[in-house]
Amino acid sequence: MFKFSTCNFRPNPIFLQPRASLDVQMEEIVTGHCTKVARNLHMERLRNHYLFPEISARELEHIKKYPNEKVIRLGIGNTTEPIPEVITLAMSDFTRALSTPEGYRGYGAEQGNMELRKAIVKTFYGDLPVKDTEVFVSDGSQCDISRLQAYIDSSVIIGQAGGFEDETGKYQNIVYMKCGPQNHFFPDLSNTLRTDVIFFCSPNNPTGHAASREQLEQLVEFAKENGSIIVYDSAYAAYITDESPQSIYEIPGAIEVAIEISSFSKIAGFTGVRLGWTVVPDELLFSNGFPVIHDFNRIVCSCFNGASNVAQAGGLACLSPEGAKAMLSVVDYYKENANILAESFASLGLNVYGGVNAPYLWVHCPGLRSWDVFNEILEKTHIITVPGSGFGPGGEEFIRVTTFGHRETILEASTRLKSLVLV
Ligand SMILES: Cc1ncc(COP(=O)(O)O)c(C=O)c1O
Repeated sequence: MFKFSTCNFRPNPIFLQPRASLDVQMEEIVTGHCTKVARNLHMERLRNHYLFPEISARELEHIKKYPNEKVIRLGIGNTTEPIPEVITLAMSDFTRALSTPEGYRGYGAEQGNMELRKAIVKTFYGDLPVKDTEVFVSDGSQCDISRLQAYIDSSVIIGQAGGFEDETGKYQNIVYMKCGPQNHFFPDLSNTLRTDVIFFCSPNNPTGHAASREQLEQLVEFAKENGSIIVYDSAYAAYITDESPQSIYEIPGAIEVAIEISSFSKIAGFTGVRLGWTVVPDELLFSNGFPVIHDFNRIVCSCFNGASNVAQAGGLACLSPEGAKAMLSVVDYYKENANILAESFASLGLNVYGGVNAPYLWVHCPGLRSWDVFNEILEKTHIITVPGSGFGPGGEEFIRVTTFGHRETILEASTRLKSLVLV
């Protein structure tokens, strides 16, 4: 990003629960012809994401040490099961039609195909007060989180995050809130500083916790009192099995304080296809009364130009009665994986969180450092997990386990885990 780049609204962010990213920033200065373009100083403030590269490095070392062992990867949360054919057929039909004069389509509406926007409202919001014109189809939720500058890196890049403090491992202008079993995975809002933006992810990655209705009521109330905007990441809402809300808009008053961002990635296996959506309600206003939706629309038109029409055809097929049934049966498959793995970790006497409303387990290993647990599990069972401390200081003593995986791999992991003795 260049120094002259300008951005849309520039809130002070707050992050209740950190999320992982796979990018690696190369800080190396190399010799050769240099242009006269100065590097954006904020880019220099970005910290390298060491977590997943470090895990990969340890995996490589492990494979060298044990070349005959099969490593099972329960680390990165990537989907594994094939996309149901009813969905891929719709995409291939659409693609083939692009080669015909009748079926060819060029640019579409930047906000997305209206039929898909209507289907999203009908499927995910039902009777809630969400209108199709408030839904913006995206190329995945990560991109809109960044376009809203609600993600740590994008906030750093535009200079909203402040300096990085090495002692605490935190950026100065970001309020981090620790969520764990001790506070029912929800911060004490009476001690929480006001910020412009509250980034809240439920069901949460990495903890797997879905916020309860009471917790979300408190959050909406807090945002209202403080005049803050909630950016609510509900990418895993389809995994909710209990009565936790699947949308922030189930909470009265949320349309005045919240943007919701979601995705087809983890419900339809669209991690590679790329499709998501963002809801910006008409009622959400800046301090001067200007509707946020108008600025968001401007950003979408200027910086995006619309999601792939092939992916949108797939999204529409996902929301047909047949597609939805097929898609949710894959979600159920991952949920069964979660049951199997949760039972295996519980059989070791460990407290297992998550898994019920999200495809992640958050396993507590009291008194142990999470990198030590990661190493020990890898050494003894050849299974890759993610050390909780990689998500922030609140993750120490935990490991995150993804429950995406083929069933035979999950069963094999379960057998190996049951014989594990952690020391
Ligand atoms: C909570 C959460 N939100 C958003 C994303 C990004 O999803 P997408 O593939 O739609 O960019 C992820 C990806 O793992 C995630 O865990």
